[in-house]
Amino acid sequence: TLKVLGLYFLFKGAVSWYTVDLDLPPSKRWTSVITDKKKDVRQIDLANAFVPSGRLVELVDITLPLMVNTLPNPFKDEIKGIAADSGIHLGEIILFNIFYEVFTVCTSVVAEDAKGNLFHGRNLDFGLFLGWDAKNKSWTVSEKLKPLVVNLDFKRNNQTVFKSTSFAGYVGMLTGIKPYLFSLTMNERFSLDGGYIGILEWILGKRDGMWMSFLTRSVLENATSYEEAKFHLAQTKLLAPAYFILGGNQTGQGCIITRSRVFTIDTFEIDLKLGRWYVLETNYDHWKEPLFLDDRRTPAMKCMNLTKQTNISLQTLYDVLSTKPILNKLTTYTTLMQVSKGTLESYIRDCPNPCMPW
Ligand SMILES: *[C@@H]1O[C@H](CO)[C@@H](O)[C@H](O)[C@H]1NC(C)=O
Ligand SMILES: *[C@@H]1O[C@H](CO)[C@@H](O)[C@H](O)[C@H]1NC(C)=O
Ligand SMILES: *[C@@H]1O[C@H](CO)[C@@H](O)[C@H](O)[C@H]1NC(C)=O
Ligand SMILES: *[C@@H]1O[C@H](CO)[C@@H](O)[C@H](O)[C@H]1NC(C)=O
Ligand SMILES: *[C@@H]1O[C@H](CO)[C@@H](O)[C@H](O)[C@H]1NC(C)=O
Ligand SMILES: *[C@@H]1O[C@H](CO)[C@@H](O)[C@H](O)[C@H]1NC(C)=O
Repeated sequence: TLKVLGLYFLFKGAVSWYTVDLDLPPSKRWTSVITDKKKDVRQIDLANAFVPSGRLVELVDITLPLMVNTLPNPFKDEIKGIAADSGIHLGEIILFNIFYEVFTVCTSVVAEDAKGNLFHGRNLDFGLFLGWDAKNKSWTVSEKLKPLVVNLDFKRNNQTVFKSTSFAGYVGMLTGIKPYLFSLTMNERFSLDGGYIGILEWILGKRDGMWMSFLTRSVLENATSYEEAKFHLAQTKLLAPAYFILGGNQTGQGCIITRSRVFTIDTFEIDLKLGRWYVLETNYDHWKEPLFLDDRRTPAMKCMNLTKQTNISLQTLYDVLSTKPILNKLTTYTTLMQVSKGTLESYIRDCPNPCMPW
């Protein structure tokens, strides 16, 4: 029975791999992913999950499609291609691509082992306030997202450029690795100068900031070192505040970049001399207390401290990310990356009851 159970969980958590060929025109790159996943993408229906009144639908069907041409390439053509391949309204696909920018809460950690290997893990939690199903004790949108989780191998000249865990239909990146060079995740940073303002300004025509997950994607695609990645993540003007969590390929290369829209507020780095062998980010500035209703940081740090640098590995990092409430009802996937081996693995998550809603 144990063996059967083990297989069952293996099967349940498994995420399939797709190749995204960067040598194809942007409008054709997502065809194989969308062909497989379009039924699940159609299920999401974010417009109604968010404001079931019809008001937002108007925005989505009329205003958002006009916005597509203001997006930079390759994103514009990729989004148009996804709409065409899926037969889903362009406005829905755009909404889908905007909403991760504003509604994710997450945990990310970069840790260095005693030999100088860097490990990077993250839980992606999405769907807060988007419909609590009291009977099933689950978040409607979080549940609908799980079938959309995919691992992507982006290739150029038939060679891997970077790998990512993502959601089918989404063209920005929240989690990825450039094998042997760096690993990168993005967490949302809540702030008064938040995402809505930047997005509204974009719609109204002030377009000098970059979408956060577009920057993450560009860095994964085009940066060729930890330092170059760090520079772009720190210097590029953004539409909304964010945390970028970056790991490199040698000792000491791990940091959290705390960003406002315009500048870097703080860079917090691994520093073995100070005994800081890992950096960990949820959704609060590391120098401030987390919101008392949502403290995933203290239990995560407690687990890391108990694990110790001498025993950190992908396995023990997975255990840390499986501890409640770091694992909660919003958690859609866990990804584990090891730069020195070039590996990315991910697992679709379920948080068995009793489990915190967030
Ligand atoms: C509740 O969960 C069951 C089993 O997973 C599923 O069949 C059902 O559709 C869910 N109900 C709702 C309202 O999502
Ligand atoms: C691409 O690489 C794979 C293995 O890495 C190989 O099997 C395949 O033939 C290559 N395709 C082309 C067009 O070179
Ligand atoms: C990466 O660089 C290439 C060549 O400059 C450019 O065409 C492409 O759009 C860039 N990718 C992203 C995601 O910005
Ligand atoms: C680490 O990254 C640098 C670029 O920053 C690269 O030159 C070097 O070869 C990489 N080291 C390993 C072991 O892959
Ligand atoms: C974990 O260890 C660090 C470094 O020793 C310490 O600053 C922190 O307070 C510890 N946190 C917890 C929750 O144990
Ligand atoms: C190290 O981690 C493994 C799990 O990978 C665990 O079984 C083992 O007990 C840990 N060792 C120590 C000394 O904590």
